[in-house]
Amino acid sequence: MRQALPMAEGPVAVESWYDSDIDHVIITEEQIRDRITELAKQVAADYASVDRLLLVCVLKGAVMFMADFARALGRCGTPVELEFMAISSYGQGATSSGVVRILKDLDRDIAGRQVIVVEDIVDSGLTLSWLLKYLESRSPGSVEVVALFRKPDAVKVPVPVRYVGFDIASEFVVGYGLDFAERYREMPYVGVLKPEVYTRSLP
Ligand code: PRP
Repeated sequence: MRQALPMAEGPVAVESWYDSDIDHVIITEEQIRDRITELAKQVAADYASVDRLLLVCVLKGAVMFMADFARALGRCGTPVELEFMAISSYGQGATSSGVVRILKDLDRDIAGRQVIVVEDIVDSGLTLSWLLKYLESRSPGSVEVVALFRKPDAVKVPVPVRYVGFDIASEFVVGYGLDFAERYREMPYVGVLKPEVYTRSLP
């Protein structure tokens, strides 16, 4: 039987493949959109005197946020340039170790540039802690962080996150870039995965 989407937009509400795997929604599509608009307004005001703000996205989880955040900044009249990095934690299991390998580096010199790291989630903080040290070694003019989600209860190392979208509970969440085994990133909302989904083996 078809059910209404947790956050349906427009005239047609069609259940998607992932909806039945979600125990409950914690942040709706509309809440994400509204919060990104607020964050962009704040950043646009703080960087009003900056010519070319450089956004650095950490793949893959932050790609949805990067796309929406850059467009929200555009609507605020703030020109941005986009850079992407891919990094991999050497750690085992579901949590990161803080030991990081660069899979894709920056394409350009960031010396003297005003940089904002665009992250989807700060969990233990280990990834971001490593990344900030790495970026600082490239002599930027400044580096700040915008993270759409943060799990305050999980943070192991203090990381200076200037802009935070949502503080969330330390649960197994997916959606809007956050994955389980590379799935669920395309969900437009964020939800808690049903335990039976991650305890069963995936195809
Ligand atoms: C996620 C997320 C952050 C990191 C946060 O990336 O995008 O980069 O984990 O975790 P931490 O605060 O505990 O270090 P992940 O390594 O899962 O890769 P992905 O973005 O490709 O999903």
